Amino acid sequence: MDPPGWPGVPYLEGTTVHRVPVAVDRDRRGPAGKESGGFLNPAMSGNRTRSVLMLNYLADSALEGVQRIQTIDSMCATGIRTRRWLNELPKETASRLRVRMCDMNEVALEWARSNLARDPLGHNVSLTQGDARRELLSQGWHWIDIDPYGSPMPFLDLAMQATARRAIVSMSATDTAALSGSSAGPLMRRYGARVWPDGLKHDSGLRVLLAAAATAAARHDRVITPLLSVWDSHHLRVTVLVDRSKSGANSHQESIGWRVANPSQEDVGLAISAGLLPQHDNGSRPMHAMLPLNASPSGPGVSGPLWTGVVGDAGLMKSMSEEAASLICASNNSTPNLDEERHARRAVRNIASEANAIHGAHLVVTDSLPGFLGGAGPPSPYSMAKGLRSMGFSAEVSRYGEPSFRSDAPWSTIVDLYKKGA
Ligand SMILES: C[S@@+](CC[C@H](N)C(=O)[O-])C[C@H]1O[C@@H](n2cnc3c(N)ncnc32)[C@H](O)[C@@H]1O
Repeated sequence: MDPPGWPGVPYLEGTTVHRVPVAVDRDRRGPAGKESGGFLNPAMSGNRTRSVLMLNYLADSALEGVQRIQTIDSMCATGIRTRRWLNELPKETASRLRVRMCDMNEVALEWARSNLARDPLGHNVSLTQGDARRELLSQGWHWIDIDPYGSPMPFLDLAMQATARRAIVSMSATDTAALSGSSAGPLMRRYGARVWPDGLKHDSGLRVLLAAAATAAARHDRVITPLLSVWDSHHLRVTVLVDRSKSGANSHQESIGWRVANPSQEDVGLAISAGLLPQHDNGSRPMHAMLPLNASPSGPGVSGPLWTGVVGDAGLMKSMSEEAASLICASNNSTPNLDEERHARRAVRNIASEANAIHGAHLVVTDSLPGFLGGAGPPSPYSMAKGLRSMGFSAEVSRYGEPSFRSDAPWSTIVDLYKKGA
């Protein structure tokens, strides 16, 4: 039976027409209130678009050979994420999904149920009203989506316990003020970490989240590999590959440590000897350096414990091009809606190109350069990246939410280029 108010009003995201009880402003940004039964936040549409593209790539790479991809959309609200998977993925991929949708909110689930009833692959989805924590533990999953209000921490251990031998876990965190160091109390309380609130504070927040995921995975004999880490306005989102591996779990702390702003010469030496800065940075003083966990630095400028390794998988990131995002807006043989195409392209901007430099040790927020090195004004991240590439280094404008570039060039080369006025 359809819920009171059905069919409500149509809301278009990607190529999926989703029915909701009240009109939603497609261009609204930022967090949404919790009060509406038919909860749907258009500001999360980019998050869902990336989720479609990731599943498209990972179904045929990390999850290749899995005939039935056991998937849990554990906080599904009105179910638009699952519906976008079903409607926008190629048919062969979408038909491999076996999705459990779960939410505490009965009204939201009623809308989910009625929407799904009209989907050709809706029969591959089951719905449960209840607590995601219980549902997560009900079986092993290949794909777990955690999309709570606030922090994903209450769900993390359960999710890691509930992964199949190999699985993908995607989690959103809307407690951005905590993770980026503006609310030090909740950050310490929830994540046992601190974050120095400079230009890289959101990158540090993503890395705190990754460290939390790695630690939770290790508790359950699993190891993570970061696939995609994105700061998108009011929320942070990380997606990790989780493999069962006792030996990997034993060494997880090798990828956890600290970030120090304005590091001393001694810090730089320590970072190099720990493999956290390349040898070619010897003798320079980068804006930031990572230190191993046992360094336990103190004083201002310190963030951590956080993930010190690479924060994304180059293969996956390369697959997330603007062209690929446009293509999903032409799925279902529909004529692309130009506004949706614009939203979709924006959702992945710079991700595919940044793949070329994701291994680089330096993520540089260009607005911070004049304060650190002196000089007239911030350079363009595009010209800095272009200049470094012309010298043979990997360098790309970053997806990060501040004007920035990522590079594997020596810090001294970055400084020289900046001083030459790139
Ligand atoms: C941010 S919304 C999810 C949005 C949804 N994933 C989407 O893309 O539209 C958070 C949802 O989590 C649900 N929720 C919160 N705590 C929960 C829990 N412990 N178990 C199940 N659902 C929960 C809320 O009812 C709400 O619908």
